[in-house]
Amino acid sequence: MDIWHVKGGRGLEGSCNVQGSKNASLPIIAASIVTPMECRLYNLPKLYDVDAALSILRHLGCRAEQQGNEAYIDSRPLSATYIPNELMEEMRSSVIFMGALLARCGEAKLSPPGGCQLGKRPIDLHLKALRELGADIVEDEGEIICKSRALKGRDISFPFPSVGATENLMLAACAAKGRTVIHNAAREPEIIALADFLRSAGAEISGAGTDKIEISGMHARKSAVCRIIPDRIAAASLCCACAACGGDIELKVSNPSQFSTVLYFLNEAGCDIINSTHSLRVVSNGKLRAVKGISTAPYPGFPTDAQPVLMAALLKADGESEIEENIFSNRYRQVPELRRLGAEIEVEGRTALIRGVNELHGAALSATDLRGGAAMIIAALSADGESVILDDGHVRRGYEDFDLCLSSLGGDIILES
Ligand code: UD1
Repeated sequence: MDIWHVKGGRGLEGSCNVQGSKNASLPIIAASIVTPMECRLYNLPKLYDVDAALSILRHLGCRAEQQGNEAYIDSRPLSATYIPNELMEEMRSSVIFMGALLARCGEAKLSPPGGCQLGKRPIDLHLKALRELGADIVEDEGEIICKSRALKGRDISFPFPSVGATENLMLAACAAKGRTVIHNAAREPEIIALADFLRSAGAEISGAGTDKIEISGMHARKSAVCRIIPDRIAAASLCCACAACGGDIELKVSNPSQFSTVLYFLNEAGCDIINSTHSLRVVSNGKLRAVKGISTAPYPGFPTDAQPVLMAALLKADGESEIEENIFSNRYRQVPELRRLGAEIEVEGRTALIRGVNELHGAALSATDLRGGAAMIIAALSADGESVILDDGHVRRGYEDFDLCLSSLGGDIILES
Protein backbone atom coordinates (compact mmCIF):
# COMPACT_ATOMS: atom_id res chain seq x y z
CA MET A 1 0.00 0.00 0.00
CA ASP A 2 1.30 3.46 -0.92
CA ILE A 3 0.39 6.34 1.38
CA TRP A 4 0.70 9.87 0.03
CA HIS A 5 1.08 12.51 2.76
CA VAL A 6 0.25 15.91 1.32
CA LYS A 7 0.28 19.30 3.09
CA GLY A 8 -1.45 21.86 0.95
CA GLY A 9 -1.26 25.59 0.59
CA ARG A 10 2.11 26.12 -1.09
CA GLY A 11 2.59 27.51 -4.59
CA LEU A 12 4.71 25.55 -7.07
CA GLU A 13 7.82 27.00 -8.57
CA GLY A 14 10.79 25.77 -10.56
CA SER A 15 11.52 23.56 -13.50
CA CYS A 16 11.30 19.82 -14.04
CA ASN A 17 11.59 17.10 -16.64
CA VAL A 18 8.62 15.15 -17.90
CA GLN A 19 8.73 11.34 -17.78
CA GLY A 20 8.49 9.10 -20.82
CA SER A 21 4.99 8.22 -21.94
CA LYS A 22 3.33 5.23 -20.31
CA ASN A 23 0.86 4.79 -23.13
CA ALA A 24 3.64 4.86 -25.74
CA SER A 25 5.90 2.49 -23.77
CA LEU A 26 3.44 -0.36 -23.27
CA PRO A 27 2.56 -1.09 -26.93
CA ILE A 28 6.22 -0.63 -27.92
CA ILE A 29 7.25 -3.24 -25.35
CA ALA A 30 4.64 -5.61 -26.82
CA ALA A 31 5.86 -4.75 -30.34
CA SER A 32 9.33 -5.97 -29.44
CA ILE A 33 8.15 -9.55 -29.97
CA VAL A 34 6.50 -9.07 -33.37
CA THR A 35 9.75 -10.22 -34.96
CA PRO A 36 12.79 -11.85 -33.28
CA MET A 37 15.02 -8.91 -32.40
CA GLU A 38 17.05 -7.06 -29.85
CA CYS A 39 15.95 -3.59 -28.92
CA ARG A 40 16.96 -0.76 -26.68
CA LEU A 41 14.45 1.66 -25.25
CA TYR A 42 15.50 5.01 -23.84
CA ASN A 43 13.50 7.39 -21.65
CA LEU A 44 11.40 4.40 -20.54
CA PRO A 45 9.51 5.49 -17.39
CA LYS A 46 9.86 3.49 -14.17
CA LEU A 47 6.25 2.47 -13.60
CA TYR A 48 4.33 -0.51 -12.26
CA ASP A 49 2.69 -0.94 -15.69
CA VAL A 50 6.08 -1.02 -17.41
CA ASP A 51 7.26 -3.62 -14.85
CA ALA A 52 4.15 -5.67 -15.66
CA ALA A 53 4.80 -5.50 -19.42
CA LEU A 54 8.45 -6.52 -18.97
CA SER A 55 7.32 -9.42 -16.72
CA ILE A 56 5.08 -10.67 -19.53
CA LEU A 57 8.07 -10.62 -21.90
CA ARG A 58 10.16 -12.62 -19.42
CA HIS A 59 7.30 -15.07 -18.92
CA LEU A 60 7.25 -15.59 -22.70
CA GLY A 61 10.97 -16.48 -22.59
CA CYS A 62 12.44 -13.14 -23.70
CA ARG A 63 15.23 -11.23 -21.99
CA ALA A 64 13.94 -7.95 -20.64
CA GLU A 65 15.93 -5.73 -18.31
CA GLN A 66 15.32 -2.17 -17.23
CA GLN A 67 18.01 -0.09 -15.57
CA GLY A 68 16.95 3.41 -14.70
CA ASN A 69 15.22 4.77 -17.77
CA GLU A 70 16.82 2.37 -20.24
CA ALA A 71 15.77 -1.12 -21.17
CA TYR A 72 17.30 -3.93 -23.16
CA ILE A 73 14.98 -6.49 -24.70
CA ASP A 74 15.96 -9.61 -26.61
CA SER A 75 12.88 -11.31 -28.01
CA ARG A 76 14.76 -13.94 -30.02
CA PRO A 77 14.43 -16.66 -27.32
CA LEU A 78 10.63 -16.27 -27.07
CA SER A 79 9.27 -19.76 -26.36
CA ALA A 80 5.70 -19.45 -25.04
CA THR A 81 2.38 -18.12 -26.34
CA TYR A 82 0.33 -18.34 -23.14
CA ILE A 83 -0.04 -15.40 -20.73
CA PRO A 84 -1.54 -16.46 -17.39
CA ASN A 85 -4.34 -14.57 -15.71
CA GLU A 86 -2.18 -13.10 -12.92
CA LEU A 87 -0.05 -11.28 -15.52
CA MET A 88 -2.99 -10.28 -17.72
CA GLU A 89 -4.97 -8.72 -14.87
CA GLU A 90 -2.15 -6.33 -13.95
CA MET A 91 -3.15 -3.84 -16.65
CA ARG A 92 -5.38 -3.18 -19.62
CA SER A 93 -2.49 -2.97 -22.08
CA SER A 94 -1.64 -6.65 -21.69
CA VAL A 95 -4.29 -7.22 -24.37
CA ILE A 96 -1.87 -5.78 -26.96
CA PHE A 97 0.23 -8.92 -26.61
CA MET A 98 -2.56 -10.73 -28.47
CA GLY A 99 -1.75 -9.04 -31.80
CA ALA A 100 1.99 -9.26 -31.16
CA LEU A 101 1.90 -13.02 -30.41
CA LEU A 102 -0.35 -13.69 -33.39
CA ALA A 103 2.15 -11.88 -35.61
CA ARG A 104 5.15 -13.73 -34.24
CA CYS A 105 3.80 -17.23 -33.52
CA GLY A 106 0.39 -17.49 -35.18
CA GLU A 107 -1.19 -18.24 -31.81
CA ALA A 108 -1.91 -16.71 -28.41
CA LYS A 109 -3.76 -17.79 -25.30
CA LEU A 110 -4.63 -15.25 -22.66
CA SER A 111 -7.40 -14.06 -20.37
CA PRO A 112 -9.27 -10.73 -20.56
CA PRO A 113 -7.07 -7.82 -19.42
CA GLY A 114 -7.26 -5.89 -16.13
CA GLY A 115 -6.66 -2.14 -15.71
CA CYS A 116 -8.52 0.76 -14.14
CA GLN A 117 -12.22 0.19 -13.51
CA LEU A 118 -13.64 3.04 -15.55
CA GLY A 119 -16.87 1.33 -16.53
CA LYS A 120 -17.32 -1.31 -19.19
CA ARG A 121 -14.10 -1.95 -21.10
CA PRO A 122 -14.93 -4.61 -23.68
CA ILE A 123 -12.38 -5.87 -26.22
CA ASP A 124 -14.91 -6.62 -28.96
CA LEU A 125 -13.25 -4.20 -31.42
CA HIS A 126 -9.87 -5.90 -30.91
CA LEU A 127 -11.34 -9.36 -31.51
CA LYS A 128 -13.41 -8.33 -34.52
CA ALA A 129 -10.45 -6.66 -36.22
CA LEU A 130 -8.12 -9.62 -35.62
CA ARG A 131 -10.79 -12.01 -36.89
CA GLU A 132 -11.16 -9.91 -40.05
CA LEU A 133 -7.41 -10.26 -40.53
CA GLY A 134 -7.85 -14.03 -40.51
CA ALA A 135 -7.43 -15.11 -36.87
CA ASP A 136 -9.66 -17.81 -35.38
CA ILE A 137 -10.56 -16.64 -31.91
CA VAL A 138 -12.47 -18.71 -29.37
CA GLU A 139 -13.51 -17.43 -25.96
CA ASP A 140 -13.66 -20.36 -23.57
CA GLU A 141 -14.12 -20.29 -19.79
CA GLY A 142 -12.50 -16.89 -19.35
CA GLU A 143 -9.67 -17.61 -21.78
CA ILE A 144 -9.18 -16.22 -25.25
CA ILE A 145 -7.58 -18.66 -27.64
CA CYS A 146 -6.32 -17.19 -30.92
CA LYS A 147 -4.90 -19.09 -33.86
CA SER A 148 -4.08 -18.18 -37.41
CA ARG A 149 -2.47 -20.22 -40.11
CA ALA A 150 -2.06 -17.18 -42.35
CA LEU A 151 -3.07 -13.62 -41.63
CA LYS A 152 -4.19 -11.81 -44.76
CA GLY A 153 -4.02 -8.05 -45.22
CA ARG A 154 -7.26 -6.24 -46.12
CA ASP A 155 -9.28 -3.08 -45.47
CA ILE A 156 -10.60 -3.01 -41.89
CA SER A 157 -12.78 -0.23 -40.48
CA PHE A 158 -13.34 0.59 -36.85
CA PRO A 159 -16.77 1.92 -35.81
CA PHE A 160 -14.91 3.87 -33.08
CA PRO A 161 -11.19 4.83 -33.12
CA SER A 162 -10.14 2.63 -30.19
CA VAL A 163 -6.50 3.21 -29.25
CA GLY A 164 -5.81 -0.34 -28.06
CA ALA A 165 -7.66 -2.02 -30.93
CA THR A 166 -5.76 0.10 -33.48
CA GLU A 167 -2.48 -0.91 -31.83
CA ASN A 168 -3.40 -4.60 -31.71
CA LEU A 169 -4.32 -4.58 -35.38
CA MET A 170 -1.13 -2.69 -36.34
CA LEU A 171 0.96 -5.36 -34.61
CA ALA A 172 -0.85 -8.35 -36.12
CA ALA A 173 -0.88 -6.73 -39.57
CA CYS A 174 2.93 -6.67 -39.58
CA ALA A 175 2.81 -10.43 -40.20
CA ALA A 176 -0.10 -10.42 -42.65
CA LYS A 177 0.38 -11.22 -46.29
CA GLY A 178 -0.46 -8.22 -48.43
CA ARG A 179 -1.57 -4.74 -47.46
CA THR A 180 -3.74 -3.92 -44.45
CA VAL A 181 -5.55 -0.59 -44.43
CA ILE A 182 -7.05 0.52 -41.11
CA HIS A 183 -9.91 2.98 -41.52
CA ASN A 184 -11.10 5.24 -38.69
CA ALA A 185 -7.86 4.43 -36.85
CA ALA A 186 -7.03 6.14 -33.56
CA ARG A 187 -4.83 9.21 -34.14
CA GLU A 188 -3.15 9.55 -30.74
CA PRO A 189 0.56 10.53 -30.64
CA GLU A 190 1.23 7.12 -29.06
CA ILE A 191 0.02 5.48 -32.31
CA ILE A 192 2.63 7.50 -34.22
CA ALA A 193 5.26 6.41 -31.67
CA LEU A 194 4.31 2.76 -32.17
CA ALA A 195 4.46 3.11 -35.96
CA ASP A 196 7.91 4.75 -35.69
CA PHE A 197 9.14 1.86 -33.56
CA LEU A 198 7.69 -0.77 -35.92
CA ARG A 199 9.25 1.01 -38.89
CA SER A 200 12.65 0.98 -37.19
CA ALA A 201 12.12 -2.75 -36.63
CA GLY A 202 11.48 -3.29 -40.34
CA ALA A 203 7.74 -2.73 -40.87
CA GLU A 204 6.36 -0.94 -43.89
CA ILE A 205 3.80 1.34 -42.35
CA SER A 206 2.42 4.76 -43.22
CA GLY A 207 -0.40 7.10 -42.24
CA ALA A 208 -0.06 6.85 -38.43
CA GLY A 209 -1.49 10.01 -36.89
CA THR A 210 -4.24 10.12 -39.52
CA ASP A 211 -7.41 8.05 -39.53
CA LYS A 212 -6.04 5.76 -42.28
CA ILE A 213 -3.01 3.58 -41.54
CA GLU A 214 -1.46 1.28 -44.13
CA ILE A 215 0.75 -1.67 -43.24
CA SER A 216 2.44 -3.85 -45.83
CA GLY A 217 4.36 -6.39 -43.79
CA MET A 218 7.80 -6.47 -42.26
CA HIS A 219 11.38 -7.02 -43.41
CA ALA A 220 13.55 -8.89 -40.94
CA ARG A 221 15.88 -6.63 -38.96
CA LYS A 222 18.06 -7.59 -36.04
CA SER A 223 17.67 -4.62 -33.80
CA ALA A 224 15.69 -1.49 -33.08
CA VAL A 225 16.33 1.55 -30.95
CA CYS A 226 13.69 3.88 -29.63
CA ARG A 227 13.42 6.95 -27.44
CA ILE A 228 10.04 7.04 -25.72
CA ILE A 229 8.15 10.31 -26.30
CA PRO A 230 7.33 12.57 -23.32
CA ASP A 231 4.15 11.72 -21.44
CA ARG A 232 1.53 14.30 -22.44
CA ILE A 233 -0.80 13.28 -19.59
CA ALA A 234 1.91 13.48 -16.92
CA ALA A 235 2.86 16.90 -18.33
CA ALA A 236 -0.78 18.02 -18.31
CA SER A 237 -1.09 16.80 -14.71
CA LEU A 238 1.83 18.99 -13.59
CA CYS A 239 0.31 21.97 -15.42
CA CYS A 240 -2.99 21.35 -13.59
CA ALA A 241 -1.13 21.12 -10.26
CA CYS A 242 0.46 24.54 -10.90
CA ALA A 243 -2.90 25.98 -11.96
CA ALA A 244 -4.55 24.68 -8.77
CA CYS A 245 -1.83 25.73 -6.31
CA GLY A 246 -0.67 28.91 -8.00
CA GLY A 247 2.95 29.35 -9.04
CA ASP A 248 5.29 29.50 -11.98
CA ILE A 249 6.67 26.24 -13.38
CA GLU A 250 8.67 25.29 -16.43
CA LEU A 251 8.37 21.83 -17.94
CA LYS A 252 11.09 20.58 -20.22
CA VAL A 253 8.86 19.21 -22.95
CA SER A 254 9.00 19.52 -26.69
CA ASN A 255 5.44 18.37 -27.38
CA PRO A 256 2.98 20.83 -25.76
CA SER A 257 0.84 20.74 -28.93
CA GLN A 258 -0.05 17.13 -27.94
CA PHE A 259 -1.93 18.43 -24.90
CA SER A 260 -2.95 21.82 -26.27
CA THR A 261 -6.61 21.13 -25.44
CA VAL A 262 -5.72 20.97 -21.73
CA LEU A 263 -3.56 24.11 -22.02
CA TYR A 264 -6.43 25.89 -23.78
CA PHE A 265 -8.75 25.39 -20.79
CA LEU A 266 -6.04 26.32 -18.27
CA ASN A 267 -5.55 29.54 -20.24
CA GLU A 268 -9.33 30.15 -20.29
CA ALA A 269 -9.27 29.66 -16.52
CA GLY A 270 -6.72 32.46 -16.16
CA CYS A 271 -3.29 30.81 -16.36
CA ASP A 272 -0.55 32.20 -18.59
CA ILE A 273 0.85 29.57 -20.91
CA ILE A 274 4.22 30.42 -22.41
CA ASN A 275 5.67 28.10 -25.05
CA SER A 276 9.28 28.06 -26.15
CA THR A 277 11.21 25.56 -28.27
CA HIS A 278 12.01 22.96 -25.61
CA SER A 279 9.94 24.05 -22.67
CA LEU A 280 6.56 25.16 -21.50
CA ARG A 281 5.90 27.66 -18.72
CA VAL A 282 2.67 27.81 -16.77
CA VAL A 283 1.98 30.77 -14.50
CA SER A 284 -1.02 30.85 -12.20
CA ASN A 285 -2.00 33.22 -9.41
CA GLY A 286 -4.07 30.40 -7.92
CA LYS A 287 -7.34 32.27 -8.45
CA LEU A 288 -8.93 30.61 -11.45
CA ARG A 289 -12.15 31.33 -13.35
CA ALA A 290 -14.62 28.50 -13.98
CA VAL A 291 -14.64 27.06 -17.50
CA LYS A 292 -17.32 25.31 -19.51
CA GLY A 293 -17.18 23.21 -22.67
CA ILE A 294 -14.67 20.59 -21.51
CA SER A 295 -15.78 17.53 -23.44
CA THR A 296 -13.61 14.41 -23.71
CA ALA A 297 -13.09 12.90 -27.16
CA PRO A 298 -10.60 10.79 -29.11
CA TYR A 299 -7.40 12.64 -30.10
CA PRO A 300 -7.10 15.45 -31.11
CA GLY A 301 -10.03 16.12 -28.75
CA PHE A 302 -9.73 16.69 -25.01
CA PRO A 303 -8.10 13.56 -23.47
CA THR A 304 -10.23 11.57 -21.03
CA ASP A 305 -7.05 10.84 -19.05
CA ALA A 306 -6.68 14.55 -18.27
CA GLN A 307 -10.30 14.99 -17.17
CA PRO A 308 -9.78 14.11 -13.48
CA VAL A 309 -6.67 16.30 -13.10
CA LEU A 310 -8.31 19.31 -14.77
CA MET A 311 -11.33 18.77 -12.53
CA ALA A 312 -8.97 18.93 -9.52
CA ALA A 313 -7.58 22.25 -10.78
CA LEU A 314 -11.07 23.77 -11.06
CA LEU A 315 -12.38 22.94 -7.57
CA LYS A 316 -11.72 26.48 -6.27
CA ALA A 317 -12.34 28.34 -9.55
CA ASP A 318 -14.76 31.25 -9.40
CA GLY A 319 -18.14 30.12 -10.80
CA GLU A 320 -19.43 26.82 -12.13
CA SER A 321 -17.30 24.64 -14.42
CA GLU A 322 -18.78 21.95 -16.61
CA ILE A 323 -17.21 18.74 -17.89
CA GLU A 324 -18.65 16.11 -20.21
CA GLU A 325 -17.04 12.64 -20.14
CA ASN A 326 -17.72 10.80 -23.39
CA ILE A 327 -15.13 8.02 -23.48
CA PHE A 328 -15.66 5.98 -20.31
CA SER A 329 -18.97 5.38 -18.54
CA ASN A 330 -17.54 5.46 -15.00
CA ARG A 331 -14.76 8.02 -15.01
CA TYR A 332 -15.94 10.24 -12.18
CA ARG A 333 -14.81 7.88 -9.43
CA GLN A 334 -12.60 10.60 -7.97
CA VAL A 335 -15.65 12.77 -7.24
CA PRO A 336 -16.79 11.32 -3.86
CA GLU A 337 -13.17 11.50 -2.64
CA LEU A 338 -12.73 15.12 -3.82
CA ARG A 339 -15.93 16.01 -1.93
CA ARG A 340 -14.19 14.94 1.29
CA LEU A 341 -11.83 17.88 0.75
CA GLY A 342 -14.85 20.21 0.59
CA ALA A 343 -15.33 20.20 -3.20
CA GLU A 344 -18.84 20.80 -4.53
CA ILE A 345 -19.37 18.58 -7.55
CA GLU A 346 -22.59 17.20 -8.98
CA VAL A 347 -22.60 14.40 -11.50
CA GLU A 348 -25.52 13.67 -13.75
CA GLY A 349 -24.91 11.06 -16.42
CA ARG A 350 -21.94 12.19 -18.50
CA THR A 351 -21.85 15.67 -17.03
CA ALA A 352 -20.05 16.94 -13.95
CA LEU A 353 -20.79 20.41 -12.58
CA ILE A 354 -18.11 21.86 -10.33
CA ARG A 355 -19.21 24.76 -8.16
CA GLY A 356 -16.01 26.51 -7.13
CA VAL A 357 -15.49 26.81 -3.36
CA ASN A 358 -13.34 29.39 -1.56
CA GLU A 359 -11.40 26.81 0.41
CA LEU A 360 -10.61 23.11 0.46
CA HIS A 361 -9.47 21.37 3.63
CA GLY A 362 -7.24 18.35 4.21
CA ALA A 363 -8.88 14.92 4.57
CA ALA A 364 -8.25 11.17 4.35
CA LEU A 365 -8.87 9.83 0.84
CA SER A 366 -8.54 6.58 -1.10
CA ALA A 367 -7.21 6.53 -4.66
CA THR A 368 -9.77 4.88 -6.93
CA ASP A 369 -7.79 4.64 -10.15
CA LEU A 370 -4.63 6.00 -11.77
CA ARG A 371 -5.73 9.46 -12.96
CA GLY A 372 -8.30 9.78 -10.17
CA GLY A 373 -5.45 9.25 -7.66
CA ALA A 374 -3.37 11.96 -9.35
CA ALA A 375 -6.38 14.29 -9.19
CA MET A 376 -6.66 13.69 -5.43
CA ILE A 377 -2.97 14.54 -4.95
CA ILE A 378 -3.37 17.78 -6.94
CA ALA A 379 -6.52 18.76 -5.03
CA ALA A 380 -4.81 17.97 -1.71
CA LEU A 381 -1.87 20.21 -2.67
CA SER A 382 -4.30 23.09 -3.14
CA ALA A 383 -6.21 22.37 0.12
CA ASP A 384 -5.48 23.88 3.53
CA GLY A 385 -4.02 21.41 6.00
CA GLU A 386 -2.88 17.83 5.67
CA SER A 387 -4.34 15.03 3.57
CA VAL A 388 -3.51 11.35 3.51
CA ILE A 389 -4.25 9.39 0.34
CA LEU A 390 -4.30 5.61 0.58
CA ASP A 391 -3.36 4.11 -2.73
CA ASP A 392 -3.23 0.51 -3.80
CA GLY A 393 -0.46 1.33 -6.30
CA HIS A 394 -2.74 3.11 -8.79
CA VAL A 395 -0.72 6.31 -9.13
CA ARG A 396 2.63 4.58 -9.54
CA ARG A 397 1.16 2.54 -12.40
CA GLY A 398 1.43 5.69 -14.50
CA TYR A 399 3.47 8.39 -12.74
CA GLU A 400 7.22 8.10 -12.19
CA ASP A 401 8.45 9.79 -9.00
CA PHE A 402 5.35 12.01 -8.82
CA ASP A 403 6.24 12.84 -5.20
CA LEU A 404 9.82 13.85 -6.03
CA CYS A 405 8.76 15.85 -9.05
CA LEU A 406 6.11 17.80 -7.10
CA SER A 407 8.36 18.31 -4.07
CA SER A 408 11.17 19.60 -6.33
CA LEU A 409 8.63 22.27 -7.37
CA GLY A 410 7.99 23.15 -3.73
CA GLY A 411 4.96 20.95 -3.00
CA ASP A 412 4.86 19.36 0.45
CA ILE A 413 4.36 15.70 -0.42
CA ILE A 414 5.85 12.50 0.96
CA LEU A 415 5.24 9.00 -0.37
CA GLU A 416 5.33 6.22 2.22
CA SER A 417 5.31 2.75 0.71
C1 UD1 B 1 -6.14 3.93 -24.12
C2 UD1 B 1 -5.23 4.46 -23.06
C3 UD1 B 1 -6.02 5.07 -21.91
C4 UD1 B 1 -7.01 6.11 -22.45
C5 UD1 B 1 -7.84 5.54 -23.59
C6 UD1 B 1 -8.72 6.56 -24.27
C7 UD1 B 1 -3.29 3.05 -23.17
C8 UD1 B 1 -2.45 2.03 -22.49
N1 UD1 B 1 -4.40 3.40 -22.55
O1 UD1 B 1 -6.92 2.91 -23.51
O2 UD1 B 1 -5.12 5.68 -21.01
O3 UD1 B 1 -7.87 6.50 -21.41
O4 UD1 B 1 -6.97 4.98 -24.61
O5 UD1 B 1 -7.96 7.60 -24.75
O6 UD1 B 1 -2.93 3.57 -24.21
N2 UD1 B 1 -14.02 0.10 -26.48
C9 UD1 B 1 -14.97 -0.82 -26.84
N3 UD1 B 1 -14.55 -2.00 -27.40
C10 UD1 B 1 -13.23 -2.26 -27.62
C11 UD1 B 1 -12.27 -1.30 -27.24
C12 UD1 B 1 -12.69 -0.11 -26.68
O7 UD1 B 1 -16.17 -0.62 -26.66
O8 UD1 B 1 -12.92 -3.35 -28.12
C13 UD1 B 1 -14.46 1.37 -25.84
C14 UD1 B 1 -13.94 1.45 -24.40
O9 UD1 B 1 -14.77 0.74 -23.51
C15 UD1 B 1 -13.94 2.93 -24.15
C16 UD1 B 1 -13.57 3.50 -25.53
O10 UD1 B 1 -13.87 2.47 -26.48
O11 UD1 B 1 -15.23 3.35 -23.80
C17 UD1 B 1 -12.14 3.94 -25.66
O12 UD1 B 1 -11.30 2.85 -25.44
P1 UD1 B 1 -9.88 2.70 -26.13
O13 UD1 B 1 -9.60 3.83 -27.06
O14 UD1 B 1 -9.78 1.33 -26.67
O15 UD1 B 1 -8.95 2.85 -24.87
P2 UD1 B 1 -7.76 1.90 -24.39
O16 UD1 B 1 -6.95 1.48 -25.57
O17 UD1 B 1 -8.28 0.87 -23.47
